[in-house]
Amino acid sequence: MAHKVFRTKHIDSHSNDSHVLKRCLSAWDLAFLGVGAIIGTGIFVLTGIAAATQAGPAIILSFVIAGLACAFAALSYAELSAAIGGCGSAYGYSYAAFGELIAFIIGWDLLLEYAISVAAVANGWAGYLNNALTAIGFGLPDNLTKAPTLGGIINLPAAAIILILMFLLIAGVKHSAKANNIMVAVKLVTIAIFIGIALFNVNPDNWQPFMPFGWFQTLPDGKTAGVLAGASLVFFAYVGFDAVSTAAEEAKDPQRDLPFGIVSSLVFCTIIYILVSGLLTGVVNYKELNVSSPVAHALSLLGYKWGAAVISTGVISGLTTVMLVLYYGLTRIIFAMSRDGLLSPFFSQVNEKTQTPVRVIVITGIIMSLIAGLVPLGELAELVNIGTLAAFVLVCLGVVVLRVTHADLNRPFRAPLNPLFPVLGILSCGSLMAFLPAITWLRFFVWLVLGLIVYFSYSFKHSKLESSLN
Ligand code: ALA
Repeated sequence: MAHKVFRTKHIDSHSNDSHVLKRCLSAWDLAFLGVGAIIGTGIFVLTGIAAATQAGPAIILSFVIAGLACAFAALSYAELSAAIGGCGSAYGYSYAAFGELIAFIIGWDLLLEYAISVAAVANGWAGYLNNALTAIGFGLPDNLTKAPTLGGIINLPAAAIILILMFLLIAGVKHSAKANNIMVAVKLVTIAIFIGIALFNVNPDNWQPFMPFGWFQTLPDGKTAGVLAGASLVFFAYVGFDAVSTAAEEAKDPQRDLPFGIVSSLVFCTIIYILVSGLLTGVVNYKELNVSSPVAHALSLLGYKWGAAVISTGVISGLTTVMLVLYYGLTRIIFAMSRDGLLSPFFSQVNEKTQTPVRVIVITGIIMSLIAGLVPLGELAELVNIGTLAAFVLVCLGVVVLRVTHADLNRPFRAPLNPLFPVLGILSCGSLMAFLPAITWLRFFVWLVLGLIVYFSYSFKHSKLESSLN
């Protein structure tokens, strides 16, 4: 138990040195941070692909199932974020519940989730931007919009947007939150416009057949289809609500505001997803939706060319907030792991002037910018999902373990009917993992093995826990 006590003291002991972040985020900043991270590629791109190839109009059920799994996990996140705090999110909670090794594995897993998400979303963003530039006669040449393996030199817009966000994050989290709030507002107006137009153009015949691929099947080419396979893909649309919990140390009143930020942003986004996916498959036939910009495409097919242009602009803004918040979350997790000695202390220095961890922002920014510019990231969305689902399973398990081992821990927010919701979270997130393809599992294991090598060659010897025990 010693390490758990130490862990709490360790976080508190940094309250007035250069390893501390500034508390400036309100409850609504946190909720907007959540909506900023959540609504993005999942709803604007993957919905169409998943409807066309995996679920048909029943994609709406895929969203309900993935949303339920996230809701169970969100209750666990809310409980642990209020009780434990710390900016390391699932990493910090696993530390308290299971100790250092599992915490390291989860932290390592989150690095994959966040970094690959940012690079993948940057690719989607670059695609939308280039479409918009082409529409006004300023399209970029293929050399500058494609990775080398696709015949180009570099995907310049994808690399550039990450560097721009890097400067925004260096400037300070309050500035970033303000920029985020404006872009989230634009994204929501865009969605409202789509819903407004689509509501008056639904043709119920498009919802038939409702479930053309059934619940689950493996196709001859090894790919998976059905409502459940669709759920494990569109789960990507919910990735990011956990990013709210990475802001614990910058929240003004984390114990009260984090549960609000996490639960309210998730509920809001789930309602939006159900509405948008239902309407999208209601206004055009699901077979038409296997394109890179299905929401804009559907409006074009209905004859609303201006609507399609407005949607594209909103998507560019919307995807920017997703990258911003996930990039922010990534830096805060590395910061927490470094401060605990599991990664080099070089990463946990806070710059006095900006009060942000500038080194880690710059290093991760340059690496993600290179990945986004040089690697085409299509199928990696599934890799993001498996990593996230694994983190959710451990967070739910953490709630159950801590209720037993730390029964009297102060819990400002308690998941009701314990242990019902954490157990449902473990079962539902575990099942969604099972519906992902074998190749995704293999890649995930390779990443974890790399992590274990780092742990046993560096972290094990340098951790603060290790030095406290000697
Ligand atoms: N949920 C985020 C998105 O859909 C990652 O883009």
